[in-house]
Amino acid sequence: MELRVEQGNIAESDVDLIVINLFAGVTAPGGATGAIDRALNGAISRLIAQGDFSGEAETTALLYARANGGAAGDGEADSGGLRAPRVLIVGLGSSEGFGLGQIRRTAAVAAQAAAKLKGVKSMATIVHGAGIAGHDADAAAQEVALGTVLASYRAKRYGRKEDDSGLTSCSVVEYSAAKLEDVARGVTRGEAIGRAVCSARDLVNEPANLLTPVEMAARARAMASDVGLECTVLDEAAMEEEGMGILLAVSQGSVNPAQFVILEHAPAGSSEAPLIFVGKGITFDTGGISLKRTGGMWAMKDDMGGAAAVIGAMEAIGRLGVPRRVIGIAPCVENMPDGEAFRPGDIVTGMTGKTAEIISTDAEGRLILADALAYAARFDPDAVVDLATLTGAIGTALGIHIRAGLFSNDSALEENLMAAADHSGDLLWPFPMDAEYEKPIKSDMAEVKNSAGRSGVSSSAKFIEHFTEGYPWAHLDIANMVLADSRINAETPKGATGYGVRLLVELAERYAAAS
Ligand code: BES
Ligand code: MN
Ligand code: ZN
Repeated sequence: MELRVEQGNIAESDVDLIVINLFAGVTAPGGATGAIDRALNGAISRLIAQGDFSGEAETTALLYARANGGAAGDGEADSGGLRAPRVLIVGLGSSEGFGLGQIRRTAAVAAQAAAKLKGVKSMATIVHGAGIAGHDADAAAQEVALGTVLASYRAKRYGRKEDDSGLTSCSVVEYSAAKLEDVARGVTRGEAIGRAVCSARDLVNEPANLLTPVEMAARARAMASDVGLECTVLDEAAMEEEGMGILLAVSQGSVNPAQFVILEHAPAGSSEAPLIFVGKGITFDTGGISLKRTGGMWAMKDDMGGAAAVIGAMEAIGRLGVPRRVIGIAPCVENMPDGEAFRPGDIVTGMTGKTAEIISTDAEGRLILADALAYAARFDPDAVVDLATLTGAIGTALGIHIRAGLFSNDSALEENLMAAADHSGDLLWPFPMDAEYEKPIKSDMAEVKNSAGRSGVSSSAKFIEHFTEGYPWAHLDIANMVLADSRINAETPKGATGYGVRLLVELAERYAAAS
C-alpha cells in the first residue's frame, strides 16, 4: 500500500473512502467532521442523535453518499460537495488524555475497516489528534501512518491465495498548508517504522525449514544494502577463531551452520561509542537433547523473535538516518538433537574464557547470548540491550501480549527503556536483579550453570549478566510477546507481532537526542 501526503479539504478527496473521527459525547461535530456533516446534509448529526454512534473508542460507522454531488435518494445521505462515495467515522473515545497510542489505534481501526470493504482501493484520512486534541502535527501524522501500515500487514501464504484487501493507497490529508511539512515528516517516519515492524513479522512468521541461519543472514545482508548499513557475517570457522565455544555448542547438533550477523549504522562514519542491540536468533528450538514435548513445538519457529526485532529496528534506523551510531548483533543458530549435539552435563568455554555447565540444552538462548554479549564489548558501547524469547515463565509472570520483562543492572538505561516503552507502545515491566538470584546458578563443576530449574526468571538474566562486563546492559525477555494465537487489536494481527522494533527505534532516537 502506498502512503501519500496531500494538502487540501478532505471533502474534495477523490477516493473510494474518506476517514474522519469523533470524540465520545460530541453531538455537534466540528472541524473536518463538521464539514463532512454539512456536505452530507447533517447525516452525521442525525446518526449521533439517533443514538447509533457515540464516538466510543475503536467503533466505526459507515455512511454512503451519492458521489459527484447528485441528489440524495431513499436511504442515502445528500452528498453535497463530496466526491467520495463512502465516509467512515471512527470513534476516538474520551478527549481527556487522548494520547499518541490512541491516534495509532484509531488509524489502525480505520485501515482494518477499509480493508474489509471490497470496493475500496483508495482512502483518504485526516490526521487524527492534530485538531482539538492538540498533538503536534508530525507526531500525530507519524502515528497515523504507523497504525495504517501495521493494520494493513498481510502474512505471506504458501500455495494459497492471499486474502488481499485490494486497498492500494492511503492519502493523509492536511488542511493547513503551514502544517504540511510536519505532516509529511511524520508520515515518512511512521511509514519507515511500520514497514520495519512488518519485516520483523515476516521473519518470525517464516517456517524454520525456509528460514535457516544462512537464510537469515542473507536477508539481513539484503536489507543492509537496501538501507545503507554495513553488514558483516561470521561463519562457524570465524566464530571458532573468536573463541565462541558456548554459542557453537548449541549449533553442534544441527546440519544448518550458525551465522553471526553484525549490522552497523554509523552516520557520516561516526566512531562514537555505539548503542548496541543484541537479538536471540534461534531459528528453531527443539530443546536439543533436553527435547521439548510435542504439543505446541511448532511455535518454536518464533525463537528468533529477538533477532528479528533487532534486524527490523536496524532497517528503520538506517532508513531514517537516525543521527547516532547503532550496532545490531544477531547470533543465528538452530537448536537440534543429533549424534553430534551437546549434552546436559557438558562444560563449555566462551569468548571471555568463562566456563559454563550445561544443565539443560533447552536453556540455549542464554548460551548464544553469552558469546554475542561478550563480542559486543569490543565496540566499547555506551549501552547494550539484548532481546530474547528466553523463558516460558515470563508469560506466567506477566501474562501474554501485555508487557515484556526488563532486567538491568543500570538504572539510567532502565529508565530510558521504560520511557521509550511507554512512548512506543512496546511495553515493559522491570524485574529484580538482586545478588541472591545468583545462588541457583552456582555450579559445582564450572563457573556458572545454564539452568536453575524453577528458580524464576531473574536467575536466567543473572546467567546472561556474567557475560556483560564493561558496559551498561539490559535484557528484555520477550517470549510472551512475539507470536499471537489470535488477533490482539487492530494494529497487531494473529501470528508474528513484530514486538520490539518500535521500542528499539525509539530508544535509538532518545540516545541520538541526548548526544
Ligand atoms: N525458547 C524457549 C522459551 C520460550 C518458551 C519461548 C515459550 C517462547 C515460548 C527457551 O529456549 C526455553 O526453552 N526456555 C526454557 C528454560 C528452562 C530450560 C530453564 C523454558 O522456559 O522452559
Ligand atoms: Mn530452549
Ligand atoms: Zn529457545
